[in-house]
Amino acid sequence: MAVATARWLVLSLLVSAAAAAHDTKWKAGAAVGGQVVEKERRRVVAESEAGTVTATDVADAAGTVYRLQFITMDPGALFLPVQLHADAVFYVHSGRGKVTYIQEGGSETSSLEVQRGDVYNLEQGSILYIQSYPNATRERLRIYAIFTSNAINCDDPSHPTSEAYSSVSNLLRGFDVKILRQGFGVSGEVVEAIQSAKSPQLIIMYNPDQEKKEKSNWTEEIFDALWGDESPLNKKKKKDKHKKKDKKDDKSKSETFNFYSGKPDVKNCFGWSKTMTNKDLQNLKGSNIGMFMVNLTTGSMMGPHWNPKATEIAIVTHGSGIVQVVCPSTDEGGRRGGDHGQGGVECKNSVFRVKEGDVFVVPRFHPMAQLSFNNGSFVFVGFSTHMGENNPQFLAGEHSVLQVIGKEIVALALGQKNTTAVEQLLSAKSGSTIMACISCAEELERKAEKEEQEGGKGEREREEEEERERKQREEEERKKREEEERARREEEERARR
Ligand SMILES: *[C@@H]1O[C@H](CO)[C@@H](O)[C@H](O)[C@H]1NC(C)=O
Ligand SMILES: *[C@@H]1O[C@H](CO)[C@@H](O)[C@H](O)[C@H]1NC(C)=O
Ligand SMILES: *[C@@H]1O[C@H](CO)[C@@H](O)[C@H](O)[C@H]1NC(C)=O
Ligand SMILES: *[C@@H]1O[C@H](CO)[C@@H](O)[C@H](O)[C@H]1NC(C)=O
Ligand SMILES: *[C@@H]1O[C@H](CO)[C@@H](O)[C@H](O)[C@H]1NC(C)=O
Repeated sequence: MAVATARWLVLSLLVSAAAAAHDTKWKAGAAVGGQVVEKERRRVVAESEAGTVTATDVADAAGTVYRLQFITMDPGALFLPVQLHADAVFYVHSGRGKVTYIQEGGSETSSLEVQRGDVYNLEQGSILYIQSYPNATRERLRIYAIFTSNAINCDDPSHPTSEAYSSVSNLLRGFDVKILRQGFGVSGEVVEAIQSAKSPQLIIMYNPDQEKKEKSNWTEEIFDALWGDESPLNKKKKKDKHKKKDKKDDKSKSETFNFYSGKPDVKNCFGWSKTMTNKDLQNLKGSNIGMFMVNLTTGSMMGPHWNPKATEIAIVTHGSGIVQVVCPSTDEGGRRGGDHGQGGVECKNSVFRVKEGDVFVVPRFHPMAQLSFNNGSFVFVGFSTHMGENNPQFLAGEHSVLQVIGKEIVALALGQKNTTAVEQLLSAKSGSTIMACISCAEELERKAEKEEQEGGKGEREREEEEERERKQREEEERKKREEEERARREEEERARR
């Protein structure tokens, strides 16, 4: 029994364990059970004195791959213009800055003043650059972005061939000088200047007061080359007189959503949560991604629930906690029963410990609960895929599906001959989806650690046993073959005589 339970609980405390699990899941092409990507395992996309970009890929149960990027910019840094190759949703975790973008086919730049808690999205084909304000609190501008595209889907996550965006300078540099001159109708010097310059880092320090002239020259030429007279910057220059009006238009067109403005959906002394779907936010229209944020105070729990349509991809932004994920279709009967056509990857119920910067993924239909420790709060922000009509289903409380099913049927489903326990389960008053759960995280962690150790032992014993059985089977088969051989030879002998 202990061994059986052990198989149910996997604690990925060790990086290597998580790494192995992650790799296996990748081979299967889809997430099976929950998955965690530790902060330390992110891939470095760009690194300079002014900032860094790290990335990780995660998959949902259907095998769709999402690329997460973590952009950190020092105050006063500039993230140079890139063209998006994927649809993107951005969440501003800290700092203040300005995001300037041109939608595909657009002929105008628009800009957003962004601050902590803001969410906005951009379509593939858009060009954008980001400034981190040098003033204000001198806090670093930190942005979490999620990218989706078919190109990302067929990539090997450790050595991706397609990035989520490309530098604008790469769009031009690849061409022959003559092609650029003729194609864009610019002078040789312009082409020369663009092509001979050393490729800059993705994020650089930028002081607009000192470098204004040079900088605007550089961007203008690129935009001029790309769009000619239709360059958005040219238009912008012409329109600068009407700047006030433009700004207002931009604002109404692309209001950012902010997690810290307005009321949370759920709030009590154990924490709060807030969800945002593409219906809530003009910005996310046309995007399949929604967002949520959960802040659990000490010793609290986000009660057991699952998503019927969405996969949750969450990033821990503060503290640490425990996430329990249950497999919706585990065969309790035997450990070989877990193959759900995923190339032999077993869906395992799991208990993960996660810390600031870690990413955890919970596929749809997988019931989960998140718990904070007694000594600190646990805050995570996340992206949910396919947010259209997804309504998280809670197991407890008066709106639980179990209530709807009714106690008799639930008792049968749980194999309870006696409905008393089920009655108590369903009549228990649980006012909210966020509730107190003192020492729950600690106990779960301890238990999972213990089971992990025992489980490891159990695994070895089982393997040894299997090996023994296999040897015995082979031995028997060998004997049988010899027996048959002898019989055949005797038969031949007899026939000859
Ligand atoms: C910071 O600088 C930007 C642009 O230089 C300006 O728009 C903004 O008002 C400034 N903010 C503060 C708090 O000084
Ligand atoms: C701006 O570009 C022109 C040529 O197009 C060049 O002569 C000039 O030096 C540039 N300015 C700066 C500050 O680099
Ligand atoms: C989480 O909630 C607590 C209590 O309401 C608050 O003090 C803390 O600042 C919140 N943390 C975040 C990151 O929102
Ligand atoms: C909080 O408690 C957990 C579990 O007991 C422990 O692992 C963790 O280190 C503690 N965190 C802090 C900040 O003390
Ligand atoms: C059902 O179980 C409860 C306790 O779990 C017990 O008190 C009760 O007598 C049982 N009823 C029947 C009919 O067995």
